[in-house]
Amino acid sequence: MNPNNKKSLLVWDLPVRLFHWLLVLALAGLWFTGEQGDDWLTWHFYLGYFVLGLILFRILWGVFGTRYALFKQFIVSPIKAISSIRQQQDSPGHTPLGGYMALLLMLAVLLQAISGLFTSDEIFTDGPWRSALSAEYQDLADWAHHNLFTLIQIAAAIHIAAAFYYLLFRKNNLIMAMINGKKMIDEEQSIASSKLWLALVMLLIAAAIFYVLITLAPEASLDDYY
Ligand code: HEM
Ligand code: HEM
Repeated sequence: MNPNNKKSLLVWDLPVRLFHWLLVLALAGLWFTGEQGDDWLTWHFYLGYFVLGLILFRILWGVFGTRYALFKQFIVSPIKAISSIRQQQDSPGHTPLGGYMALLLMLAVLLQAISGLFTSDEIFTDGPWRSALSAEYQDLADWAHHNLFTLIQIAAAIHIAAAFYYLLFRKNNLIMAMINGKKMIDEEQSIASSKLWLALVMLLIAAAIFYVLITLAPEASLDDYY
């Protein structure tokens, strides 16, 4: 293929980009509010619900969204992923390894948010679903909520280091692509639009699932402490 045919064209739709940067901001807020505890936990809950909604949306978008957002597009066989390390080929969407990292981060954040629904600061504040669990599973949720975050921190650090490796050593600015959505590619590799109407429908479905999840929760068990 003639490299001169390449133009700066859309690969990451707006919903994927918004999802990414809102996730980064929300996780920073969750870290801060989670460590502060006490009254900050109110904001921690709101941000946690927001992230849960974001991930629900991203799961739907991974099935119905645009070309490079689809799970089937970026989750390839492990053999292909390993051989791609040697080929050092740039790809319009996620690289095979980048795809696995994206999946790991999404899964870890999802589990972290779910465990939050069942955890407690052991003083005043319980996640909304905590009382639905036996003591044994409550301990498991506490353990997960404390330890999964370490996994997220390590994975995010590797992920950010990889983005800078591409920028500095491969002269490939993936970070800018996650901001403006564009990469230097051939015309037929580009996506036509961000499918914003479909994204809105997915957002409403994610919000509805989320609403049911929270309104069905048993009463918060503040009284247990008195
Ligand atoms: C808490 C920190 C972060 C988390 C949890 C995170 C998570 C993710 C996820 C889940 C994706 C996949 C996006 C999708 O397919 O919808 C992704 C992609 C990406 N992220 Fe992050 N990210 C974080 C921080 C950052 C930062 C600080 C940068 C920039 C320095 C960055 C640069 C990128 C890039 C360039 C991609 C696209 C990778 C590719 O082309 O394969 N991320 N990130
Ligand atoms: C991805 C989303 C979330 C992240 C990244 C996160 C992160 C954290 C962090 C870093 C802490 C401090 C843990 C420690 O001191 O060891 C914390 C504590 C806590 N989180 Fe979350 N959280 C999330 C979602 C949620 C949700 C959805 C809820 C409930 C609705 C929740 C409820 C709590 C509670 C009750 C604590 C206090 C635990 C304690 O003090 O030991 N979290 N969270």
